[in-house]
Amino acid sequence: MTAPADTLPFPPGRPSDYLPLADEPTFDPGQHLALEMPSETTDLATLGYQESDLADCASSFAVSNAFRILSREGVAAMRHVCDQIYHNRNANEGTGANRLGSYARGAGYRSQFIRDFCDSPELAAHLSDIAGVPLGRHSVPAVACGINYAPEDISRAIDTWHVDSVAFDIVMMITDPSVLKGGEFQYFHGTKQEGQALLGITGEEGVDTALPEDRVVTIPFPEAGFGFMQQGTMIFHRACRLLERADRITMIPSFEVLPANAPDSTNTLNMADWDDPGICPELARHEIWRTQARLESLLGEIALEDHPAELSARINAAIGRLVSFSDKLEKKSS
Ligand SMILES: [Fe+2]
Repeated sequence: MTAPADTLPFPPGRPSDYLPLADEPTFDPGQHLALEMPSETTDLATLGYQESDLADCASSFAVSNAFRILSREGVAAMRHVCDQIYHNRNANEGTGANRLGSYARGAGYRSQFIRDFCDSPELAAHLSDIAGVPLGRHSVPAVACGINYAPEDISRAIDTWHVDSVAFDIVMMITDPSVLKGGEFQYFHGTKQEGQALLGITGEEGVDTALPEDRVVTIPFPEAGFGFMQQGTMIFHRACRLLERADRITMIPSFEVLPANAPDSTNTLNMADWDDPGICPELARHEIWRTQARLESLLGEIALEDHPAELSARINAAIGRLVSFSDKLEKKSS
């Protein structure tokens, strides 16, 4: 098992819209986790990505089939927690073009059980082994612990075609998948650029239309407590609409590549437009932390023979993401 690297601690406090649960179990990895390896994984080259695309990715891993994550006791405890958070789910209409039907981001602010599950070193080490790169719980609490519920209006997709703003995430079924009619999780067997071009969209914007059926893969969930992992920024995916009203709860914990000075594909510029309470300070912490780590390693690498142009390029590479993020905040407030 890979030794887990340290991620950024959760910030102190809690946005006032998020209510802490009064009644929840205590997370116990020995009791609640039952981690198994996936039996199938797909890599980015199989989806059509080229060497030049792979150079920007920390891992060639693309997506796995569903594998067991929670024990039956873990499922029961998580269901109890998610059912309560439903009454304090996010009030707005989601990211981009009203993408998500009904959801709770930042669930770790409401539930210590979820916070401890998402933060568990056992889970991070397991997922690191699958992805072949060190991963830690995402430092942005909004995405570190997300929950998707079925929308009230079942004519709406649970989540439309999109790519994620975070490098790695798992989609874990909390409710019994065998009773669902519709509600399948699907990904496009191709590159995100090809999928987006077929639908005529750009960025991570969602759209609820069909892609050619022979290019769409449905991921089966054997039972509650199973989830799959994906490199979310590279996989064009959706959760289909339900054909009959049913309980469908998925949990989507997100992860980032460690150590903090490693290349980072978190799309903080996109996420800065989300409406979650606390999102901009959360994203600022993320960019400050990772920039600090890049600057620390740069500090150790500077040699007295270095030329000004080279120094400038390396400094800009270290601070570029933070400067762009700060510019984004400035535009947002003007
Ligand atoms: Fe997604």
